[in-house]
This record gives sequence, structure tokens and C-alpha cells, in this order.
Amino acid sequence: MTRRRVGVLISGRGSNLAALIAAAQAPDYPAEIVLVVSNRPEAAGLAYASEHGIASEIADHKAFATKAEFEARLQAVLSVAGIELVCLAGFMRLLSGEFVELWQNRIINIHPSLLPAFRGLDTHVRALAAGVCIHGATVHFVRHETDEGPIVAQAAVPVLPDDNAERLAARVLRAEHRLYPMALRLVASGVARGVGERVVFDGRHLREPNAVLFSPAADQED
Ligand code: GRF
Repeated sequence: MTRRRVGVLISGRGSNLAALIAAAQAPDYPAEIVLVVSNRPEAAGLAYASEHGIASEIADHKAFATKAEFEARLQAVLSVAGIELVCLAGFMRLLSGEFVELWQNRIINIHPSLLPAFRGLDTHVRALAAGVCIHGATVHFVRHETDEGPIVAQAAVPVLPDDNAERLAARVLRAEHRLYPMALRLVASGVARGVGERVVFDGRHLREPNAVLFSPAADQED
């Protein structure tokens, strides 16, 4: 089995990075995490890379006068490492249309809402304010508009009566840690492909609808 070479871009905590690293340890996983890039030198998630002997690079956006120069640095570290697929995992910089174009259908992102609802920041506060009963997370191919792009997979969680933003965020995050490895498996194996503005799944996958939408509510403690 050929394993796709994956670079993960982070800015902070890195819990989704940790979930991807853990999943990629399975011998049949179709991707290997070979590089972690952070735009923040102090990102806590960089520790996961060093603990697992994974190379890491800093591309500090503050060190560059323009976004183009920052992205040139990103591009340089990704190409030196022979990266084939990029996962954004809590990466808090907006990528330009040019960069996204360069990596068309080869960058995926995880967003803490059921897109297209609640694009942008503070999704859990906004979900509570809107009074939705179901919230969740989405993995999608990246397009030049923020939190837009063909949806690979989603996870749904309930909003419970006594929720606050922290409790809801924690429930969504647990779902993210299952969702992102599953979605990367689909993309890296070629089962899920971005075609135009949709994701096309191969025939094998179409018979397994649970693989693109799952609800972990039933097996959660709360
Ligand atoms: C996650 O909630 C992810 O959905 C969002 O940023 C957060 C990153 O968390 N894009 P972590 O750094 O992976 O712990």
C-alpha cells in the first residue's frame, strides 16, 4: 500500500493533529504524517510532532512582510518534504486564492460546525444562541472562501439542555478526533475526491453511508 505523505498545519493546541498521528500508526492507514508546520513558534501541538519523531517547521507569519512571502515559505517546507496532502488542524491563517489553487483538492480542513451553518469563529456560542438541537463538525476540501468547500464527512452531536459553550465544544472536539482520521482515510485512499464543488465517492463507499456522516451521541458519556 502506498501511503500518502501528509503535512499538518497547526497554530495551537494540536489535539486534532494528535488524533491524526495516532490513526496513522495503524499499518493499513493510507497516509503518514511526515511534517507538522506551525505559524506560531509557541504552538503546544508542536510537542506531538517531536514526541513521535515527526519533522516540524515554523512558518511564522509575523516574520514576513507579505502574505505571499509567508506562503512561499509554507510552499517551500511542504515541497522539500514531498508533501502530497495538507491537513489544516486549527490553523488560524487564511490562505490566499493562489495558494489554495496550487493545492486544489489536496488541502482539507476541519471546522467545528455542521457546515454550511456557522462558518467562522465562535461556532459553539453561536450554535447555542441559535438554539439548534444538533451541532457538530465538518471536514471539507479547502476553497478560497473561508470554511467553504466540498464536504468530505460530518459528525453530529446533540445540544443538551444544560450546555454551555465549553461543554458543547468538548463534545464536538471528541467527535472531531474521530471524524478527522476517518475523513483523511477517505481522501488519502482516493475513495473521496474533490470534483468541481462536490466530493465524489467511489462505488465501494456509496454502499457505506455511515462512513461520511456519523453521530457519536449514542456512545458518549454525557
Ligand atoms: C478545532 O476545533 C478545529 O475544528 C478548529 O480549530 C480547533 C483546533 O483544535 N479548526 P486543536 O488545535 O486541533 O486541538
